[in-house]
Amino acid sequence: MNARQIVSGVYWMGAQDWNRRLFDALIPLPDGTSYNAYLVQGQTHTALIDTADPTMQRELLEQLEHVPSLDYVIANHAEQDHSGLIPCVLEKYPSAMLVTSAKGKALVMNHLAVPEPRIRVIADGDTLALGGKTLSFIYTPWVHWPETMCTYLREDHILFSCDFFGSHLATSDLYVTDEGRVYEAAKRYYAEIMMPFRAVIRKNLDKLKPLAIERIAPSHGPVYDRPAFIMDAYRDWVADTPKNEVVLPYISMHGSTELMVNHLIGVLVERGVRVTPFNLAATDIGKLAMALVDAATLVVGTPTVHVGAHPAVFYAAHLANALRPKLKFAAIIGSYGWSTKAVEQIAGLIPNLKVEILGSVIARGLPQPADLTALDALAETIAVKHRELNLH
Ligand code: FEO
Repeated sequence: MNARQIVSGVYWMGAQDWNRRLFDALIPLPDGTSYNAYLVQGQTHTALIDTADPTMQRELLEQLEHVPSLDYVIANHAEQDHSGLIPCVLEKYPSAMLVTSAKGKALVMNHLAVPEPRIRVIADGDTLALGGKTLSFIYTPWVHWPETMCTYLREDHILFSCDFFGSHLATSDLYVTDEGRVYEAAKRYYAEIMMPFRAVIRKNLDKLKPLAIERIAPSHGPVYDRPAFIMDAYRDWVADTPKNEVVLPYISMHGSTELMVNHLIGVLVERGVRVTPFNLAATDIGKLAMALVDAATLVVGTPTVHVGAHPAVFYAAHLANALRPKLKFAAIIGSYGWSTKAVEQIAGLIPNLKVEILGSVIARGLPQPADLTALDALAETIAVKHRELNLH
């Protein structure tokens, strides 16, 4: 894809990765992704903001064929999907300087072997004049690495936010055209990558408030020409108050746990609580991560394998613990044949969650009437807890 103009002197210059289906050998990418770099041409100097994934070297170099000189490469973030082609770009333009934060400098030297004399370190709030176009640098740490920053183009009111506000979405659209589709992709991205840093993201959102922002140009997914759409979504996701929702990841081997899951779903719905179940044998973990963004309660459902929880349930509990969602409550349900330590194991896997454990319901074999009554009581407890917090 060729460079595409955003405003006069500012161009999208990146690559669509239509077929990539996994990031970090972990995160599902149902819609592929893009690596967006941006060229800013002033009257006297030219800068490239971020580069692209190393797999996209040919695509980026083809677009740079039309750029005779380059003075600066801005590294908003040192992760390889944006910085991996920095060495190649610096080689193509021997007088270009890499501009990054002090923490970014250490990371690009370590990960990409960028020579120190080629790096110019900027401080939070510093500016770079390109002639009629001024870049200012805003440190926005932990979206999602310690060195992450945004670059703001003052004259054109464009925020180049790198991963912040990004969406894993390969698209031929330069701008967001389908907000519903982009909302889904951006929420998935937030859930999988940003959610553990909710508190610091809130501070970063506040830090951006004084800026007049007409466009947000992230380094994954399309450009936002209605920035309030994504900034409001982020404010909702990072808010402390969860929604009146239960997320219910589970595994069932012979049907007992599934009977309990289905019963619990029914009695929760009767009490006005929304439920999202995930059969972990079939689910996309990205969907589970997204459901965790808003849920107030986590109920884990597990059968017993070798006296413990099912390994897929271990994985889901570990993931939830690592993502640190705003959950307030948790419970464990499931079944066993002759002996189980599943409840203690699952409870021990989620220390980061700071949740109130509402109890467990574990059936021996097929759930009996007493087990179903215990599930009714659990549903009532959840509904009451949600009502006490006035969740919607
Ligand atoms: Fe898109 Fe953190 O890299």
